[in-house]
This record gives sequence, structure tokens and C-alpha cells, in this order.
Amino acid sequence: MSERKTKYPIHPMILNRWSPRAMTGEAMTNEELFPLFEAARWAPSSYNAQPWRFIYAHRETEHWNALFNLLIEFNQSWAKDASVLVVVISRLAFEKNNKPAPTHSFDTGAAWENLALQGSISGFVVHGMQGFDYERSKKDLKIPDEYQVEAMVAIGKKASKESLPAELQLKEEPSLRKEFEEIVMEGHF
Ligand SMILES: Cc1cc2nc3c(=O)[nH]c(=O)nc-3n(C[C@H](O)[C@H](O)[C@H](O)COP(=O)(O)O)c2cc1C
Repeated sequence: MSERKTKYPIHPMILNRWSPRAMTGEAMTNEELFPLFEAARWAPSSYNAQPWRFIYAHRETEHWNALFNLLIEFNQSWAKDASVLVVVISRLAFEKNNKPAPTHSFDTGAAWENLALQGSISGFVVHGMQGFDYERSKKDLKIPDEYQVEAMVAIGKKASKESLPAELQLKEEPSLRKEFEEIVMEGHF
């Protein structure tokens, strides 16, 4: 794949973030992990409602299997070497009046990106995942009905590409993007 290039100049931390899969399987300390949640905490949200919540499990703890077992087989094949798994959820309604919050997912997406950027800047692997059992996660993790399950995240320490199975090594590189003109429109669609 060719190198990532931007049409307009942007901060390198944005361009340099990507989603590797090769991880060492080492544990992470909370001192290493918690700055990622701290970054998420400072995301903007509608009415500053902060609808995001993060349920995490360190490897080799009593909580790991509950999160790991939610993943589809493909994700398990590489996320087994993560240090931490996270389930990201968001509150469907505002806490102050229980009215539906139209941007709860949008706001939680902003928080996830803060988390991913902070992790990338700190040199960790941060990899979002949709491939897991959403229904089972609600039950197994005792998530209240007021919350929507958004995504999972694997966080870990970087390993060399060679530590992955051959077919995953082929995918282990930063991906490209649609053209600028395809996603930005002046005035109307
Ligand atoms: C919400 C979300 C869900 C994703 N689900 C998966 C997944 O289940 N398995 C996987 O291997 N990668 C998954 N990815 C990784 C994306 O494929 C990746 O972010 C995308 O190809 C862009 O590449 P980059 O993050 O390296 O820039 C997911 C990413 C996001 C943000």
C-alpha cells in the first residue's frame, strides 16, 4: 500500500494514528492505561452530557474472559495478545431530564478518538472492534437498558509484524482514505 498523504497539512499525530494488530501480550499498568480514559473524558459533547462509559478488563484478571469471549473468532485470533479490552457504551438519554440525546453516539465517537489518539501518542496499539456479540455484552457485563453498546477496543504493547499469522501480516499497515472531494460538499449533497 502507498504512503499516507494529505491534501492539506494536518497535525502529524492524526496522520500517524492507525490500528495495528501485533501486540506482545504483556500486561499494562493502570498508570499506562488510565491516561487514555482521561483523554476520552475531555471530549466535547452536546450539553456537556458526557454520555460515554468505558468497561475495561486487564489480561490475566477475573474480568478478562467475560470481555474476550464476546469477540468473534477473527478478533480473538489477534486480540488475545492485547493488554486490556474495553467495551464502550453510551447513555441514550440525557441524565438531567431523560429526554433522548440525539448525539450520544456522535459524542462517544469523539471520546473514543481522543482515547485512540492518546494511546497512539503514548506508543500503544489501540484498535477499535465491531466484531463481537452486542446482545451478549449487555447481559454478561450487566449493562443497564439506558445504555447502548457502541464498540470494543483492544489496547496493548506494540510487537513486530512478524509475530502475527501470515495472512494478518499482509494487513498490518496504515490504511488509506477516500478522496477529500468525496466526503466534503459545499451547500448541499
Ligand atoms: C468502531 C470500529 C470498529 C472496528 N471493528 C474492527 C473489527 O471488528 N476488527 C478489526 O480487525 N478491525 C476493526 N476496526 C479497525 C478498522 O478496520 C480501521 O480503523 C480502519 O480500517 C481504518 O484503519 P486505521 O485505523 O489503521 O487508520 C474497527 C474500527 C472502528 C473505529
